[in-house]
Amino acid sequence: MIKSSAWVALLSLVLSGCQAAPAITSPASTSAKAITDLLWIFFGISALVFVVIEGLLLFVVFRYRHNGNKVTTEELPKQVEGNPRLELIWTLVPALSLLILFIVSVGTLRALVEPPTDSAAVKNIVNVRAIGHQWWWEFEYSDEGILTADEMHVPVNSVVYVSVDSADVIHSFWVPQMGGKIDVVPGHTNNTWFQPTEIGTFTGECSEFCGGAHAMMRLDLVVESQADYEAWLTAQKAPSVKPTGDAILGEKVFFEEGCSGCHQINGTPADGLIGPNLTHFASRKSIGGKVLDNTPENLAFWLGNPAEYKPGVLMPKLNLTPERIKLLVVYLDSLK
Ligand code: CUA
Repeated sequence: MIKSSAWVALLSLVLSGCQAAPAITSPASTSAKAITDLLWIFFGISALVFVVIEGLLLFVVFRYRHNGNKVTTEELPKQVEGNPRLELIWTLVPALSLLILFIVSVGTLRALVEPPTDSAAVKNIVNVRAIGHQWWWEFEYSDEGILTADEMHVPVNSVVYVSVDSADVIHSFWVPQMGGKIDVVPGHTNNTWFQPTEIGTFTGECSEFCGGAHAMMRLDLVVESQADYEAWLTAQKAPSVKPTGDAILGEKVFFEEGCSGCHQINGTPADGLIGPNLTHFASRKSIGGKVLDNTPENLAFWLGNPAEYKPGVLMPKLNLTPERIKLLVVYLDSLK
């Protein structure tokens, strides 16, 4: 027997796990809320059926258990055959339950498919293109001329239309607290939408196996006030800041090592489109597909050998000396 204290420890572990994870049971958008409501209706009806059926089963098992006496043919209970009323009940009750679940499911599906069309919603639309790469997310705000990675910003209560494309293989775009998943298919654009109702940072992840580092393909969805969002747009639209001090040497290393062949930095000759756009790299909270926090130590570690943390990553090991890594970190961290 497990001691009760162990049960308490286990339970608190499970419960704390539920809170830290991007749980679908804590929705933060209108469609995620509709999905969660449906989940609880299904759970409630299933739980009711479970309790009634298991209760009847246990009752019969204990009430009519063998009492140790020999049973003779004469003592057998009255044998019955057919009971129209009972048969009607156990046919109609499940049929009606399924009909109810079907009707509420169709209602939820409609709510998920049709975005709001009231005038407030129409005025507050954000279009984002999410591009899945092995193994990171790129975000293009073509209305604003912004190309960024790892971090997607949207204002609260806006209607966010996300069109998803793939740069290589099949991925799946999923921010659990915003709603369902959408397949990211090469050569075919899929569309989804959501309306965030809460300010906060919500973790998203690729939910289709897409190669070795599939589990390291995450993103941050930052839902913020309209004012914060506009400030973010303004900052992202600006060209990169001009380096000063050691950052000038770092920029030199950046070009000498060929980083510009894969990365774009607006306002400089760096125009590579294979890796993430780094124009405002220092404004982002994470690196490498949200696998490491964006700190100078982590960045130095990452530049030293990206595959050490993320096996299979396309970014090569450049065999940089610690001094050159240090200068690169100073330069990249200056790109606010
Ligand atoms: Cu991309 Cu899994």
